[in-house]
Amino acid sequence: MLYGRTTLSKFLIEQLRGDKSAQDLSALLIDVAAAIKGISAMVSKGALGDHLGSAGTQNVQGETQKKLDVLTNELMLRQCEWGGQLAGMVSEEMDEPFTVPSPYPRGAYLLAFDPLDGSSNIDVNVAVGTIFSVLKHADRKPPQTASYLQNGDRQIAAGYAIYGPSTMLVISVGRGTHGFTLDRETGNFVLTHPDLTIPADTGEFAINVSNERFWEPPITRYVGECKAGRSGIRERDFNMRWIASMVAEVHRILMRGGVFMYPRDTRDPSKPGRLRLLYEGNPMAMLIEQAGGCASTGRGRICELPPSQVHQRTPVILGSRNEVERIERYHREYDEGSDRPFVSPLFNERSLYRPEVT
Ligand code: F6P
Ligand code: MN
Repeated sequence: MLYGRTTLSKFLIEQLRGDKSAQDLSALLIDVAAAIKGISAMVSKGALGDHLGSAGTQNVQGETQKKLDVLTNELMLRQCEWGGQLAGMVSEEMDEPFTVPSPYPRGAYLLAFDPLDGSSNIDVNVAVGTIFSVLKHADRKPPQTASYLQNGDRQIAAGYAIYGPSTMLVISVGRGTHGFTLDRETGNFVLTHPDLTIPADTGEFAINVSNERFWEPPITRYVGECKAGRSGIRERDFNMRWIASMVAEVHRILMRGGVFMYPRDTRDPSKPGRLRLLYEGNPMAMLIEQAGGCASTGRGRICELPPSQVHQRTPVILGSRNEVERIERYHREYDEGSDRPFVSPLFNERSLYRPEVT
C-alpha cells in the first residue's frame, strides 16, 4: 500500500507541530537521513564497492580505521555541514570537533555521531550501523569543545540506522521511539515500527564473555545467575547473544527485549568501559528510555553522567527495565558490601592476620 504511508518527513512535521525550532530540526534530521541512505548504498555494495579493508590509519582511540570508517565519516560531514542547522560536529573518527566552515551559515545545533558502528563486522558481511545525537548550541559564537559536554538528558534528538537485510532508521525527538524502513524503490524511510516498547522482563542477555576475568563482581554475579538458568536462583533458562555491533544489539532489544552490557572492567583502569558516551551511550540511552527501558552505568542513569571529554567512555547496561534494575541493585549491594557474608576486618584480604593459604 503506497498511499497513506507515513514517510520520515510527514512524521517529523506531525511530531514537531507547535515546536518553534521544528523546521530546523526536521531539516537536520532529513539531512542525516540522506547521509544514512548514502552509507546504506555504500555498505551494501560489499566487496563490489572496493571499500572493504583497512584505511591504514588510527582514530583518536588508537583503533585501526577501516576504509569505510573514513568514507562514511566524510559522507556525514559533507551531507550535514551546508544546510545552516549545525554549528559543529564530533565523531568517533575525528580527533577534534569539526566547526561548520564559512560560507555555510552557522546553525543552533550540534551533531555527535559514530558513522559506522560495529565496523569490525564489515568484512564479514554482518549488520553495522550509524549512531547520532543532536544537542542544542544556544551560543552565537562558534562551538568550543566544552559546547559538546552536555549530559544526555539535554539531547534534542537521537537515532541510529541499522544496515542489515533491510536498512532501518530508529529515532526519537523525545516523544517515543519510532522505527522506519528504507523503501529502496521510492527512496523513502517509511514508518513501520511506531511507538516501540521494550518488555520489562526478558530471558536474553548480551555481553562479551571473553572479558569475564576483568569484570566487577556484580556483573559476574548477574551473568553467573543467568547461566545457572532453571537450576539457579533465577529459576529460568536464559539465552545469550553477542553480535559485536552495538546498533544490532540495541535494535534486537527494541524489537523483542533483552539486556545489553558493556560494563566497566579492570582491563585498562584509564577507561571506564569500552563505549563512548557522547555518540554511543547517550543516544542509545535516550532511545531505550523513550521506549520504556532503562540505560545505566550500573551506578546511575547514563543520561545524567556529566561528560568531561568529547571521546569519554562509559559503562553501558541497557534494556528491559527489571533486569537493568536488578543489575543496578547488584552494584549497590556490592558497593555497600551487603552481598558478601560478614568478614571481620581482622581477617579481610588486606589484614596482617590473614590466615595463610596452604
Ligand atoms: O563501537 C564499539 C563496538 O564496535 C560496538 O559496536 C560493539 O558493541 C563493541 O564495540 C564490540 O566490542 P568487542 O569487540 O569487545 O566485542
Ligand atoms: Mn561504535
